[in-house]
Amino acid sequence: MLAVEKVTLNYETTLVGCETLPVFGWIIRSALRNVVQRSWRLQLATSTQFDELLYDSGDIHDDRSNNIALPDIVCAPSTRYYVRVKITDNHGQASDWSPEASFISGLSAAAWQGDFISAETPQEKDVSKGTLLRHDFSLPQTNDIVCAVVHASALGLYQLWINGEKVGGDELAPGWTSYHHHLLYQTWDVTERLRRGDNTIGAMVGAGWYKGDMSFNRYRNYYGEQTGFICHLVVTLRDGSQQVIASGADWQASDSAILFSEIYDGEIYDARREQRGWCEPGFDARGWRAVSVLAADRAVLQPQTACPVREIERLAPWSLFTTPKGETVLDFGQNLSGWVEFKVRGAEGDNVSLRHFEVLDAEGNVYLANLRTAKQRIDYTLRGGEEERYHPHFTFQGFRYVMIERWPGTPKLDDFVAVVLHSAMAPTGSIETSNAELNQLHHNILWGLKGNFVDIPTDCPQRDERLGWTGDAQIFCRTASYLMQTDTFFAKWLADLAHDQTAEGGVPHVIPDILTGKCDNDRFLSHGRTHSSAAWADAAVINPWTLYLMYGDTQTLARQYGSMKAWVEFMRANAVDNMWSWKLQFGDWVALDAREGSYFGATPNELTCMAYYALSTQLLAKSAKVLGHVEDAERYEELHASIVDSFHREFFTPNGRLAARTQTAHILALYFQLVPEAYRERTVQTLLTLLEEQDGHLVTGFVGTPYFCHALSENGQADAAWKLLMKDDFPSWLYQVKAGATTIWEHWDGVKPDGTMWSPDMNSFNHYAYGAIGEWLYRAAAGINTQEDAPGFKRSVLYPIPGGNLAWLKARYASVYGDISVHWTQEGAQESQTITLEVEIPANTRSTLVLDRAHTLLEADGLDFTPVAEGYRAEVGSGRYRVVFLR
Ligand code: BGC
Repeated sequence: MLAVEKVTLNYETTLVGCETLPVFGWIIRSALRNVVQRSWRLQLATSTQFDELLYDSGDIHDDRSNNIALPDIVCAPSTRYYVRVKITDNHGQASDWSPEASFISGLSAAAWQGDFISAETPQEKDVSKGTLLRHDFSLPQTNDIVCAVVHASALGLYQLWINGEKVGGDELAPGWTSYHHHLLYQTWDVTERLRRGDNTIGAMVGAGWYKGDMSFNRYRNYYGEQTGFICHLVVTLRDGSQQVIASGADWQASDSAILFSEIYDGEIYDARREQRGWCEPGFDARGWRAVSVLAADRAVLQPQTACPVREIERLAPWSLFTTPKGETVLDFGQNLSGWVEFKVRGAEGDNVSLRHFEVLDAEGNVYLANLRTAKQRIDYTLRGGEEERYHPHFTFQGFRYVMIERWPGTPKLDDFVAVVLHSAMAPTGSIETSNAELNQLHHNILWGLKGNFVDIPTDCPQRDERLGWTGDAQIFCRTASYLMQTDTFFAKWLADLAHDQTAEGGVPHVIPDILTGKCDNDRFLSHGRTHSSAAWADAAVINPWTLYLMYGDTQTLARQYGSMKAWVEFMRANAVDNMWSWKLQFGDWVALDAREGSYFGATPNELTCMAYYALSTQLLAKSAKVLGHVEDAERYEELHASIVDSFHREFFTPNGRLAARTQTAHILALYFQLVPEAYRERTVQTLLTLLEEQDGHLVTGFVGTPYFCHALSENGQADAAWKLLMKDDFPSWLYQVKAGATTIWEHWDGVKPDGTMWSPDMNSFNHYAYGAIGEWLYRAAAGINTQEDAPGFKRSVLYPIPGGNLAWLKARYASVYGDISVHWTQEGAQESQTITLEVEIPANTRSTLVLDRAHTLLEADGLDFTPVAEGYRAEVGSGRYRVVFLR
């Protein structure tokens, strides 16, 4: 049977607040092999009956089932639309209509009726308290509410409340963007929340990223001095009339029970100050004050259509114990981002104090030093009497452990639960193998993502940083996009990258950029050294290209194209003979070949800069081609060729020796295809020698590590790649696993074999950067790749490389066309192995299946294999296949 299982909108299952139509896609199911869509039909309507159609494509005869842009259709604002699709295939089958997907349209900047209002005065700029805003309104007693949609946002952080309940599951809304250019508003369907007659709408507002104390330099008020809130509620009644309730001068304001709340330092909450019923009709608000209306710009408002920060899961604590020093500590067994929710009973005025932290020190005591100035502290004062429940509101903590400093009576394990918060993205990847340590590494990579995709891609979630470091987000982007559906998440962050780029095209080190102009006393970043470091700034090009590869997203590619080009032009403007440089370069950051105590690895900046210049120029040329910018494509292809030529002349001796003798230099040259063919073998051999000199260990930093295994496996050294991955003594990925890590460490030597730690000034235990090895697990070990000219896995290459002495590996990736799975087993000695390979290829896609080093085929499952240099190869249509071969 042929079925359209799911319709997607911008790769998501639902969208809210769309101001432009999303691109549509669908996932096709069929029990048959070689299924190709022949035609499709899509309808758009305002009801699930599809009786009043806004659009009907009619039968369209082509095989596109993703990234489908419809002609310009004007949607009414704040309205829910439904979409359904039916298809036919090459086997003569026709599907039924799909289950419908829906989206809610947004509100253009001009249509907003609300003002930004504040409960704070300009004198309160140094205060990070919570405030409340409320407004009573009535709806007719005689008319049914057919639909109610609310749009809202804040300068600061907010929660929206209606009739005594918080609206939606979003936390830390409106997220963090380059607020002066780009402020997201949220949209919720609140039809069920309203009633005839009296209603109350309100908001709790906090300082957040907008005005709180931020960055390691601890500046406040980056974006403004007063928090603010805006909302626009549209209620549609049975008679077709609409009533709009908007934020304005007639609202009322008060302080809340939140005495203090900030991203790094936590929250101080006095439950005695709670005002029961503050957001319900009939509340006595006589003590409340007038709001002030702010002169903030509504033109920057744009919809957050998906991917809000939410509670994703809850973890019960493993244990409650007393340290040798006598501290009372909870262990949640997992390094995570979020907060602790607790229940407590006590007398009025009793206190709870919690400190959140990542690791115990060598003696097993509480270790706070690596948090630097971040307090990560919760102080709660009880109202007394009944059991009280609490979790913080406008902050989050990075932690595995919690020290209980104050608690009325004796705390019990079940008084606590850890709430994991991160941007809500659909999980897409899983890998399981016969090796438990490798599985734990995959788990740690995934939890590195969970801990650091809290609205923006952060370096780490615990110390006084948590910034959108571009380099980290660049090297981890592909891995992240195998693990989860990251398109909306990265597209939003890339919009801010473009906003915050310098006029010359320079790319700030952190996005949103809160460093420029605020680092005068910083030892590294003073004198304007806050932008344009190789490998960091290249996020401008690599990340949109990655979204194109993984999802076929040409929309984001087109939107970012100007930013991508500006970055390449920045390098060109600062280059002499293709050798560019700019102020501060991080180079192969925190590599182990650095001088003792230094963060800067031994690979020369000249090489790192030129290698990334080549890569970004090459990807820009490819992007130009995809987008039809023919002249640009030629121009950047030529520039790329000339950079490669310069690289050859600059870094290779006439005898073919790569002049920079570091692992990372060899990795970059090989992986970015900067090695003259005649010198390839020598370069590969030298890389192997450099490995041997370290007894098989890597000494690479942020720049070399992600590609180490690729540089080996793509150059005939798959076994060496596996050997490197499976190393488990210091320094290695599995060394961390064996040391009990539950996320990825910032430093290979975060905890050294002798138990001592890297200096607390920079020692995070939840830094996803080295988790970029995940990409190799998916692309090489499991072998799941897309073809560049049919992106989003419309045409995939399945080329798994069994190895590592594993008995088996099972991988699954939920592509935008459906699940791709690979399962291999290997039996027998290294010299003569039997490999069994089972693969699943989604309908309406094709794949090139490559059997690694196969010399004899035992079972071909009807496929037509031909011998090639890699082993055997076959072109395969959708379906499940099982192949057995010897190698
Ligand atoms: C961050 C890194 C970042 C680096 C820049 C650090 O403080 O934690 O992950 O990329 O600075 O060099």
